[in-house]
Amino acid sequence: MDEKEGYDFFTIKEINEESLTVKNTLKEKSKVEKIVSNIGNIDRICFVACGTSYHASIVGKYLIEDLIAIPTEVLIASEFKHSAKTLTKNTLSIFLSQSGETADTLKALKIANRFSKTLSIVNVENSSLAREADYNINTSAGSEIGIAATKSYLSQLICIYLFVAYLTKDKNEKNGIKEFNRIMDSLDNLQEFIEGILPKEEEIKEIAKKYKNAQNFFFLGRGLSYPTAMEGSLKLKEISYIHAEAYAGGEFRHGPIALIEKGVPVVVVIPKDEDYEDSLSILKEVKSIGGDVIAIASCNDTAIKSESDEVICLNEKIDPIISPLTYVVPLQLLAFHICLTKGLDPDNPKNLTKCVAND
Ligand code: M6R
Repeated sequence: MDEKEGYDFFTIKEINEESLTVKNTLKEKSKVEKIVSNIGNIDRICFVACGTSYHASIVGKYLIEDLIAIPTEVLIASEFKHSAKTLTKNTLSIFLSQSGETADTLKALKIANRFSKTLSIVNVENSSLAREADYNINTSAGSEIGIAATKSYLSQLICIYLFVAYLTKDKNEKNGIKEFNRIMDSLDNLQEFIEGILPKEEEIKEIAKKYKNAQNFFFLGRGLSYPTAMEGSLKLKEISYIHAEAYAGGEFRHGPIALIEKGVPVVVVIPKDEDYEDSLSILKEVKSIGGDVIAIASCNDTAIKSESDEVICLNEKIDPIISPLTYVVPLQLLAFHICLTKGLDPDNPKNLTKCVAND
């Protein structure tokens, strides 16, 4: 039976289990390696998922297109049928799901099985999605009770990183081994990095108190940080009922920036990666028009402090390639603490169920 084991809520228990999740999910390494070596020729990848699983899929797209240059798209499961005619036997359709029973995703898998190779990445062993795909990877996060996905998101991402690492080694003739080693070395250090982020909870609690009455929140990120921004925004919406929207940093200037006025909180996910300067530019612009900037940044980023109202900083040794695996953790904690300061129940948000079983 699932117990809270001293925690007040499953959601915070599950966030705290993320370090253990890293250890457990990495045990899937050899299985992932085997699947990649059996998968054969693929000239296109199509991720299909809903909600948080959709956000994990977007990380997969950025990694695959950058490291292996296989055209990759990410489709919302409920819209998948409109693209089904474009699938071929050399398309790999990848289905991500915590529950393995989401009706829209399952329906899409049944269509994809007719036209393409299929791989499911699910947390619940022996679920429908696990059984019905050609290949399956178990994310091994253990049971997740909180409605808001937290540790299962991390475990999905780890599986994606493993998949991409082996695919890169196999298919990227020029830099495959180098990129494989870079990802694997980073994953080896991930548990330690997560353990370093969790104690930031007290600091994040103070930020939560400051912004608990905000009516609107914005989350910005570029490249690999864009799906992190989307996931941070979804977490906040789900459990604190604050209206939140996520944008790719560059896109924010094309309209939504009109909504910024004095005191509107804008979370900017800004690791020191190739998008850093561009992210800094939008961060400064938001600040100059009165927005309250909450930066999630590297601890060696001294410039960010003077440009932001709040900074949650993460170990500078984190290789930016794994920033989605780490920078999301403070955003989960922020949503959790805003929810608590508003007196809400994070485990059972209204109108939501753990698995959307009807389409
Ligand atoms: O079980 P699944 O991963 O297929 O569920 C998909 C979404 O319903 C799910 O991620 C939902 O968005 C969560 N409540 C996110 O926290």
